[in-house]
Amino acid sequence: SRAVIAADIGGTHVRFALVTEKGEILLQEKRSRIRGSTPERMIYDWIEIAKGLESRAQGFGLKVSALGFGIAGKIDVEEGRVIFSPNIPELNGFDVVAFLRSHLAYPVAIDNDANVFGRGELWVGKGSKYPDWLGITLGTGVGGCVILDGRVWTGSRGIGFAGEIGHTTVYPNGRLCMCGKRGCLEAYASEGGLLRHIANCGSGKEYGLSALSAKRLYDMALSGNPEACRLFEEFGTALGIAIANAFTLLGIRCAIVGGGVSNAWGVFYEPLLRATVNNCSMLNAEDIVIEKSELEDSAALYGAARLALDII
Ligand code: BGC
Ligand code: NA
Ligand code: ZN
Repeated sequence: SRAVIAADIGGTHVRFALVTEKGEILLQEKRSRIRGSTPERMIYDWIEIAKGLESRAQGFGLKVSALGFGIAGKIDVEEGRVIFSPNIPELNGFDVVAFLRSHLAYPVAIDNDANVFGRGELWVGKGSKYPDWLGITLGTGVGGCVILDGRVWTGSRGIGFAGEIGHTTVYPNGRLCMCGKRGCLEAYASEGGLLRHIANCGSGKEYGLSALSAKRLYDMALSGNPEACRLFEEFGTALGIAIANAFTLLGIRCAIVGGGVSNAWGVFYEPLLRATVNNCSMLNAEDIVIEKSELEDSAALYGAARLALDII
């Protein structure tokens, strides 16, 4: 029987999985991404992981039929190219699919990582509960997808993006973002945004900057550290403003939030809900639904598997 390899390429980690056509994850591998090198070197690392999973698949009596990738950034899905990735700039303009195809024996498909998160939620997560919803991924960056009538909205043809909520403006002239603009949601509500802000404020020492991560900040907030609590308050508020704007624009009322940093839910959900309600004059508070994904950080892997299954 058939299986595919699914990959989630983020700003900090790459995650791979061997997935059956029924949607079972059999094997997983996670690595830190290679930084500051050529796209070729970066992708050779992915090929090595894929080949490893391919040979281990034989142990399950399975043959790999395709590979599906979610990649952070603006993606030309048809040409198989990364157009612009704020958190993986090494890949800007690179023909990822063509390069992978020249080293692998099976078809390859790529899409934006948050759109792939949406496909995963629709396939095996909470996404099928609602016809229309906004998906948000919280990680190194902030990703988004727009699901209308049960389908991922892909944006105008040839433009290469949709749902890029991380780069919508929440505070004019606010914190600098990796995309080059100021005041983006991502600068307030992502791991990258939090850590850069702390480094810029020179307050890294108080936090023990060397080992600092969103997880560590979350633990500090849980134990009552006022500065960490304030950062997550701002985090939730910024997210709520962006969600309220998206709900108002699209006429929808549900959001599903995932990605590794969604595990800090307990310290940002209250300000998030408050800001959504306060900034949404068109919706009654009781109609607003904002839920955490139950797929932990695997939704994008399921979605990438779905992407691969759809091309075989
Ligand atoms: C990128 C998105 C991506 C998100 C999450 C953002 O910086 O622009 O394309 O989905 O990060 O990785
Ligand atoms: Na997207
Ligand atoms: Zn931005």
